[in-house]
Amino acid sequence: MAPIIRITDLTKKFGNVTAVDHLNLEVEEGEILGLLGPNGAGKTTTILMLATVIRPTDGTATVGEYDIRKNPEKVRGLLGIAFQEPKMLWVSTPWDIVNWHAKVCGLSTEERKRRVKEVLESLEMWEARHRNVHALSGGMRKRVEMAKVLIQRPKIAIVDEPTAQIDIVGKHRIWNMLTELRDEGSTIILATNELYEADVLSDRVGIIHRGKMLVCDTPKKLKDSILGGDIIDIQLEEAASPDIFQELKKFKDVVDVLQLKPFNLRIYLNKVEEVIPKIVNMLTKKDSPIVSLRMTEPSLDDVFVHYTGLTIEEAQKSGE
Ligand SMILES: Nc1ncnc2c1ncn2[C@@H]1O[C@H](COP(=O)(O)OP(=O)(O)OP(=O)(O)O)[C@@H](O)[C@H]1O
Ligand SMILES: [Mg+2]
Repeated sequence: MAPIIRITDLTKKFGNVTAVDHLNLEVEEGEILGLLGPNGAGKTTTILMLATVIRPTDGTATVGEYDIRKNPEKVRGLLGIAFQEPKMLWVSTPWDIVNWHAKVCGLSTEERKRRVKEVLESLEMWEARHRNVHALSGGMRKRVEMAKVLIQRPKIAIVDEPTAQIDIVGKHRIWNMLTELRDEGSTIILATNELYEADVLSDRVGIIHRGKMLVCDTPKKLKDSILGGDIIDIQLEEAASPDIFQELKKFKDVVDVLQLKPFNLRIYLNKVEEVIPKIVNMLTKKDSPIVSLRMTEPSLDDVFVHYTGLTIEEAQKSGE
């Protein structure tokens, strides 16, 4: 089956900043495609080009059978979008906004009444439905933005950081709703800088850094692609000396060692049970006390580190 979205060399420059840099990606019908990247990676810019809100500097994309440059109105007809920063200046209450949106989407009076209540209730916005949107918290405004997409059930839903500022219970609700939307047949593009959100929700994750797509695959395959199946995080009492670093790298089953912070080492390795005692021995001999030692599974952050040499948190800081 042909992909429902095909992005080809998509590029956007703002002056001398290249926000999106020859991005290529295919999105299959019916999948949740996560775009994971730190602040400033180019996720929102990519999404806004797909939604025909801003024009590409170079390259293009087809959405359904339509080109975003040649048929922007047709493209918009296929999409529902929840913006990262909702603009809500034109009507005054959550109920008004969602009800108006349901009207525009062509829901009958009967169905509109039922669905608006259902969606606002499930997002825990029913009680607040008549409050002025300007008096709502950031998280509540995000919920209203999300309600629009859930009411519309578009062929392609684009959600930009859908759970930013939302509490953990709310996040789980929204994740469930997005999964249901996918199961009902929508294709979903999810932009996020939250590793966990990308991991639990996405069928495939594309990792974006500095406007480029580094890799795109299922979360499992991405994690399996990390060399060495096991990870140990060690915190030392003092900064690790270059000597310790070299000794660790010498162990046969150790694949890589990263110094995340002066006191923190992350070791990628095989046969963790066999290697741990050797590591502990070596550190004892070197008189370098261990504060904590933790075995972990590879996460998408390790995939990010693998491709960029930075954790997402570090990339976040350098991008701001
Ligand atoms: N309208 C604009 N004018 C100038 N520069 C812009 C504009 N919009 C985005 N940028 C720049 O483009 C780059 C990508 O920004 P973008 O908003 O796409 O990142 P993002 O991945 O969505 O980040 P975040 O996680 O913070 O939402 C950044 O360097 C940003 O400063
Ligand atoms: Mg963004």
